Amino acid sequence: MCGIIGYTGPLEARQILLDGLAGLEYRGYDSAGIALCLENSHIALAKKAGKVKNLKEYCDHHITASTHSGIGHTRWATHGGVSDINAHPHRAGKVTLIHNGIIENYHALTEQFHLQNLLVSQTDSEVAAQTLNQLYTGDPLAAIRDLVKLLEGSYSFCIMFDDQPGSIYAVRNVSPLVAAATHSGSLIASDLTALIPYTREYFVVPEQHIVKLTPYKVHVYHMDDTFSKYYPEIMTVNWNMDAAMKNGFPHFMLKEIHEQPEAMRNTILPRVNKGLPDFSDDHIPDSIFKQCDQVQIIACGTAMHAGMVARAIMQPVLRIPIMVSIASEFRYEEPLIDDKSLVIIISQSGETIDTLAALRLAHQCGSTTLAVVNVKGSTIARESDYVLYTHAGPEIAVASTKAYSVQLAALYMISCRMALVRGKYTPQEAYGFLAQLLDVIPAMETLISRKEQIKKTADHIIKSPDAFFIGRGLDYAFSLEGALKLKEISYIHSEAYAAGELKHGTIALISEQVPVIAIATQEHVYAKTISNIREVKARGAFVILLLKENAVVDEDLADIQLRIPEVSDHFTVFPIAVVLQLIAYYASLAKNLDVDQPRNLAKSVTVE
Ligand code: G6P
Repeated sequence: MCGIIGYTGPLEARQILLDGLAGLEYRGYDSAGIALCLENSHIALAKKAGKVKNLKEYCDHHITASTHSGIGHTRWATHGGVSDINAHPHRAGKVTLIHNGIIENYHALTEQFHLQNLLVSQTDSEVAAQTLNQLYTGDPLAAIRDLVKLLEGSYSFCIMFDDQPGSIYAVRNVSPLVAAATHSGSLIASDLTALIPYTREYFVVPEQHIVKLTPYKVHVYHMDDTFSKYYPEIMTVNWNMDAAMKNGFPHFMLKEIHEQPEAMRNTILPRVNKGLPDFSDDHIPDSIFKQCDQVQIIACGTAMHAGMVARAIMQPVLRIPIMVSIASEFRYEEPLIDDKSLVIIISQSGETIDTLAALRLAHQCGSTTLAVVNVKGSTIARESDYVLYTHAGPEIAVASTKAYSVQLAALYMISCRMALVRGKYTPQEAYGFLAQLLDVIPAMETLISRKEQIKKTADHIIKSPDAFFIGRGLDYAFSLEGALKLKEISYIHSEAYAAGELKHGTIALISEQVPVIAIATQEHVYAKTISNIREVKARGAFVILLLKENAVVDEDLADIQLRIPEVSDHFTVFPIAVVLQLIAYYASLAKNLDVDQPRNLAKSVTVE
């Protein structure tokens, strides 16, 4: 969740760290700090609650000396409130440390090492720093290994020792880290976006290994008695810096909404062979689709909503149980999966800790795992049996948009391939399905070009503290994502309801001018959805109706109609997603909120 960056080399470290933190801010942004190693080996520390710009202003006035190595951190608070003191880095004797993750046994360590009177912050991270300082006798590798033996929880640390100027050490358990040695110094970060201004080549820091960065070399050591060397696989970034910049858009979210058609093409087209979905280049064998007798989909947040849509698409065709679970619940519900189950894990970041834990549980149950992941080399991608990468490029806005669309595209292709190899689709039917999937791309472009029309909904939505999203069948699955989008960036309480379920309680909340965003794109339940809309309209709701271009509807049913181009029922999610994203975006904008970095949230949730 937190952003981490470390640099040592010939360039000015302060600037690299501050620039890196600005790029990493989407990971967590309630406070930020840097520690710099000065010429005399003295450590200069700057920590500020609030956004990175606060830290930058402070540094501009207080840290002017030239520096060539240092570590920086943006925080998403877990233990201890948001304050300068609780911000990282933490200092303890000769140790300066930044941390991403949670040290679960911090309390036991505090007692074991008698740290009570030494701690100045309320963080678990400072406990790690103090413990490390007590273990440190001049050998950083040994001290870090000994610390790791004591720790329970997830973590990635970057550490400087006062008597090792110019060197930065790092270690991780679960929480991600990537590193690179370049001609202009060595870098380490929680996220590739901080490295790409300097290099396209990097490696993923392996878990339970120690990394040492010196100005021109990065060494990786096994955590064994002799600290033997480990040589990681060097990977190449497949997107450029432009992808991580706003490029003239006022917000990343709006830019990422616009990028969806291209992301869809990038994800679908390389897997089309003679008009049929083909995963040979992804090394995914058909046997995994043929041999399973059920599919379990697991994910969090928006990715889980993509899974809900996938279930509605897959189950009627495949005629086997397709289950969807929230990753954080899955672990505790004694799941009914075994070696005949195909477990599909969906994650944009590939690092969400609950999703990762669910993946590991699936392996314990003997299931085959297939991950739909956006970030190359991420932990989930590496630990899954098979990976189908989505090609959305970096998604920076906290509210997921393009990642959702391409997750859906990947899941639709999986569904189609499964149906084909299980004999549920003829090649002709699979061909038709894929052609329809490609047809949604121009439909999404059309909606993006109509954004000014969608913007008009914002004035009405922001007048109310509540909003309701209703639909039936697939439309209900879309509603879930619409409500999540709106609440996370506009702070308007939003709920999605299966339209037929409204009368069992929620309709009590419908009163004059309460916005109801009604989705009616599914022919077989269209008439019933329309009846449900009438019920809320009769109670004074302000109805924003999403429907297909040619749908016939009474003028008085809705206050605003937003029409999507004609695509067949199973594919309406793609244009509808664009509409829902734009509704949320403009509502957030109209309330003058921080669209890309909404309060309390973080892009990559690496704590349980
Ligand atoms: C966070 C993000 C969401 C995302 C969810 C799952 O809550 O804000 O946008 O859907 O995590 O993340 P993942 O990276 O696993 O898709």
